[in-house]
Amino acid sequence: MHVILVMSLTYETLFAFLLNSTTTGAISLPVFTESWIRKWEIPTGNNDSSAPDVVRKIQEETLNDKVEFLYCDLASLRSIRQFVQKFKKKKIPLHVLVNNAGVMMVPERTTEDGFEEHFGLNYLGHFLLTNLLLDTLKESGAPGRCARVVTVSSATHYIGELDMDDLQGSRCYSPHAAYAQSKLALVLFTYHLQRLLAAQGSPVTANVVDPGVVNTNLYRHVFWGTRLIKKLFGWWFFKTPDEGAWTSVYAAVTPDLEGLGGRYLYNEKETKSLAVTYDLDLQTELWARSCQMTGITDVSQDTFSG
Ligand SMILES: NC(=O)c1ccc[n+]([C@@H]2O[C@H](COP(=O)([O-])OP(=O)(O)OC[C@H]3O[C@@H](n4cnc5c(N)ncnc54)[C@H](OP(=O)(O)O)[C@@H]3O)[C@@H](O)[C@H]2O)c1
Repeated sequence: MHVILVMSLTYETLFAFLLNSTTTGAISLPVFTESWIRKWEIPTGNNDSSAPDVVRKIQEETLNDKVEFLYCDLASLRSIRQFVQKFKKKKIPLHVLVNNAGVMMVPERTTEDGFEEHFGLNYLGHFLLTNLLLDTLKESGAPGRCARVVTVSSATHYIGELDMDDLQGSRCYSPHAAYAQSKLALVLFTYHLQRLLAAQGSPVTANVVDPGVVNTNLYRHVFWGTRLIKKLFGWWFFKTPDEGAWTSVYAAVTPDLEGLGGRYLYNEKETKSLAVTYDLDLQTELWARSCQMTGITDVSQDTFSG
C-alpha cells in the first residue's frame, strides 16, 4: 500500500491520500483515515520541519512505511499546481481524495491570488485540486471499484447564500456568511462533479460530508465568549476529532456507497442538503465561474450537450 499525504501548512490536516492496493484490509484504511483527521499534538508552523514526525506517527499507527509528505498550500493556485505536478511525477494511482482543509470566520483577507480567503481556500482550492487530479482518479478507478472524491462541507451551508454577483463578499464582508457560502459552494460543486463524472461514464464518485460539530481548532476565530463556552462545555456537546472523522471515513471506504455519488452524508447516513444545492443551473453557473477563476477548461457544456 502506498499512501501519499498532502498536508496543511501545520501538518494537521491531510486532505488527500492514496491507496494502491485492492487487498487493503478493512481495518487498515479506517485506521489510516482516522489517523488522518485526528489532531496530532504537534506545534504548528508553516515550515516543513514537523513533517517527518507526522509521517513517522502515521507509519507507526498504520504499520505502513510507504507514507510520504508532499507540501500544498490550498490558498495558492500556484502551490496546488506545483503539488499536482510533483504528485503526477510519482506515477502512482489515486483512489481516494478527501477535501478536508478549511478555515472558518477569519477576518477579511485574501489569498495569494486575491480571492476572499474562505472562498479561495475552502472552495476554489479544493475545486482546482480535484479538477487537476481527475485524470489520475479516473485512471485509478474501475467499474465495481470506483475512485472516490469526498468533500467536507458543513451544516453551516444550510444558512449559506451564494451571491453570484459578489462571490468575494467585497460589498459587505461577514466572516460567518463567507464561511457558509464556501461550504454551500462545496455542496454545489460535488453535485455538479458527480453529474459530470456519471455523464462521462467515469469510474469515480463524488460525495459530500458534514462532520457535525467537532472539538477542533477551527473555532479559533469565533467570538471569545463562544470559545470560552466551547472550552468549558465542549466535551459535552462537541464530537471528538475521531468521531468527527467517521462520516468522512465512511464515505471513503464503505462498500454501501460503491458506485454511488451525489450524496450529502451526515452521521454516516444520506440526508438532504439545502434545496438550492439541487438547482442544476446554479451548479452549472458556479462551475463555469470557478473554471474561469482557476484558469481551467470547462468541459461540462460539451459533456452534457454531447
Ligand atoms: N470542527 C467542526 O465543528 C466542523 C464542523 C463542520 C465542518 N468542519 C469542516 O471540517 C474540516 C476540518 O476542520 P477541523 O475542524 O479539523 O479544523 P482545523 O483543526 O482548524 O483544521 C483545518 C485544517 O485546514 C488547514 N488549512 C488551513 N489553511 C490551509 C491552507 N492554506 N492549505 C492547506 N491546509 C490549510 C489548517 O491548517 P492551519 O492550522 O495551518 O491553518 C488545519 O490544519 C474543515 O473543512 C471544516 O470546515 C468542521
